[in-house]
Formats: sequence, C-alpha cells, structure tokens
Amino acid sequence: MTRSRPVLAIDGGPPVRQRLLPYARQLIGEDDIAAVVTTLRGDWLTTGPAVKAFEERFAAAVGARHAVAVSSGTAALHGAAHALGLRPGDEAVVPALTFVATANAMCYLGARPVFADVQRDTLNVDPAAVEAALTPRTRAVFTVDFTGMPVDYDAFRELAAGQNLALVSDAAHALGARYRGRPVGALATLTTFSLHPVKHITAGEGGVVVTDDPELALRIRNFRNHGITSDHHEREAVGSWWYEMRELGFNYRLTDFQCALAQSQLGKLTDWTARRRAIAARYTEAFAGVPELELPTVPGWAEPAWHLYVVRLNLERLRAGRREVFAALRAEGIGVNVHYIPVPWHPYYQALGYRRGCWPVAETEYERMLSLPLWVGMTPADVEDTIAAVTKVLAAYRR
Ligand SMILES: Cc1ncc(COP(=O)(O)O)c(C=O)c1O
Repeated sequence: MTRSRPVLAIDGGPPVRQRLLPYARQLIGEDDIAAVVTTLRGDWLTTGPAVKAFEERFAAAVGARHAVAVSSGTAALHGAAHALGLRPGDEAVVPALTFVATANAMCYLGARPVFADVQRDTLNVDPAAVEAALTPRTRAVFTVDFTGMPVDYDAFRELAAGQNLALVSDAAHALGARYRGRPVGALATLTTFSLHPVKHITAGEGGVVVTDDPELALRIRNFRNHGITSDHHEREAVGSWWYEMRELGFNYRLTDFQCALAQSQLGKLTDWTARRRAIAARYTEAFAGVPELELPTVPGWAEPAWHLYVVRLNLERLRAGRREVFAALRAEGIGVNVHYIPVPWHPYYQALGYRRGCWPVAETEYERMLSLPLWVGMTPADVEDTIAAVTKVLAAYRR
C-alpha cells in the first residue's frame, strides 16, 4: 500500500498560504516612527547629536569602547580595512562562504582576498584553513559569524596574536550574539555590523564599526567624512574655517534620523534576540528527526543571534534537488532563500583568477542549503506555516 502524498502547490494543489512569507523583513513600531519624526523636527539631519547618542549606546550594547556609525555594513567593512592600512600587495583571509561585501572590502583598497574554506558543522570559517592560507603578505583575518553563530573567537584571537595580524569580525549576522558569555563586538580588533532591514535592527541602510582602539576609531571617523580630520581642538587652534583632508575618504555618514531609528530599535534588541531564539528553537523541535534535513549545529560556546536559520537538504533521501525544493516552497507561499553562493564563484572573482573547486566544504554545502523565514515580526502562525510547508514538500519529494 502506498501512502497518498499531498498535491504540492507547484503541481496545482492548494498552497499552505496565499501571500508569500518573506525570509526576513524589518519591524517598525510607532515608537520608532516617533523617534524619526522628532529628529526630523530638530536642528540636525546629519552629523548631529543623534549620531553620537546612537554610537554611545551601540558601543555599550556590544561591550566595545568606540562605535562609529556609517552608511552601510559594506562601508563599515571598507572603513575597517582602510583603518588597518590594507593596500595593494597585501592579503587578507576571508571565508569563501559569506556575502560578497566581506571580500569586496579588500578589493576597494587594491588588496587581495584569500578565501578560506568553512567547517562542515557550523559553516563558519575553519581556523585550520585560515592558518593554511597565511602568507608573508597576510595583514588581516576577516571572520564572519555566519547566520549569527559566533566563530571560535579564542582560536582566531590566538592565531592572529601569534602571527601579528589584525582580526576583523564581520558581525553583520551577529548583533546580540555571545561567545563564551561575551558579546560579539568585544572580541576582535574591529567588528562591523549592518543595519540593513533584514538584520536584527535597522536604520534603513546603515552600519557600525566598533573597536577598543581609539586610533582605529578615529581613522574610521575621518574616513567616513572624506578623510577630513575631525579633531575639533586641532581645528579651533588654527581657525574655525580651516580643515584638512589628510587622506582619501568617502562620504559614508549616517544621518541623524537614521540613527534615531536605529537607537529606538536597539532598545528592543534583547527582546528581539529572545524572539529569534524562540523561533529557531521551534524549527529545531519541529524538524528534529526529519531525515531529509540537517539542522544548524550550535557549538557549546555559542549563544547565537539567529539572523538566519539555514537547513541543509539530505539530497540522497530526496527525488528532487535543491532547486525544485526551493521552487516548491515558494509556490507554497514560503519565501525561502539561499545564503550564499560561494564568493569566488562570482564572475568578478573568476575574472581575477579564482577557480572553482578550491573550497570543497563551502562549495558542496552550498548546493544543499536553504534559509527558512526568520524575523521578529513573524507570528506563531507564520512559523507553523513554514513548518507545514517544509514537511509537505519533503514528504512529496521523499524517496
Ligand atoms: C556577512 C555580511 N557582511 C556584510 C554585509 C553588508 O551589509 P550592508 O548590506 O549593510 O552593506 C552583509 C549584508 O547582507 C552581510 O550579510
């Protein structure tokens, strides 16, 4: 006797839900709107007190001495790479599995990203692969807390200290995460965050670099403002109209009304992190023992921030590939996504000479990955719809 399988929406059956559930989106409250409006009615739209207030709050929240707000997570990475003085001829090691922005930060400065493979369990960059990628030209190691799962910071700190390298943590996924009880933000030479709407808190667009090093912070402050010195005392000493551009920078400033939004959102981070953890826990409970899925591994040191919940398909148990499962879930109204295409696969990097096949874990695991919807505004019904759709699609494609 064969069990009857539900007809998938992609095959003409009724979908689990009519409106597509996005994989991520922002949650904006009336208090956030009020904070922005108050700032819009004030004297400063940019470079004003809301920027400073947000920076101070953010630094305190992540356990760092200095925070510099910039216009995106990408600008934060560019600022970090600039502050370290990366230049042509230098190399920096980056994970092969991340968003392109992590590696692009080196390219902006003419330095070369050297891609390192990730670990099979966490999909975080592998300390042994990073060590193997070091050369006399290596100046920095960039890690990424992929999905919000902290890397083994002790291993990377030891590696960086032993080789006299800077450690940069791209924590775009990891605001609110902790490593051995310490907040991500207090663990690397420089740590960067993103305030994009899919992230833990948003400013529309925005980013933050944090560090304990006042000189690095100052370099980034100047860099976000064309490279113009921002030391007011120095300026006053030579006349208030006088300023100096000492190195090439950009306009990477974040406005006051964006900082007001981000600060309002930051006040909710603790509750929102708890909500993300509860959604992740519900997925883990619902999918435990589903043989077609491999669920995220949480190392003992990690209190993850769950930017993403990435499952991996056990393809040998399915009659369909990731492409079909992806399309079937979207037809059911579940906006799954894939994070990420290995960075060196992109045509820009291929043209620079990187070749496929050098990062076997990232490249193999990429073929099996799916990100399930995960954001703070999801209702319990949204979470259950996702579980129902995944269960339905896997049942239909089960071997
Ligand atoms: C790992 C990682 N780094 C950097 C960024 C860039 O952030 P932004 O979009 O704010 O420029 C992102 C954005 O998705 C990201 O996921």
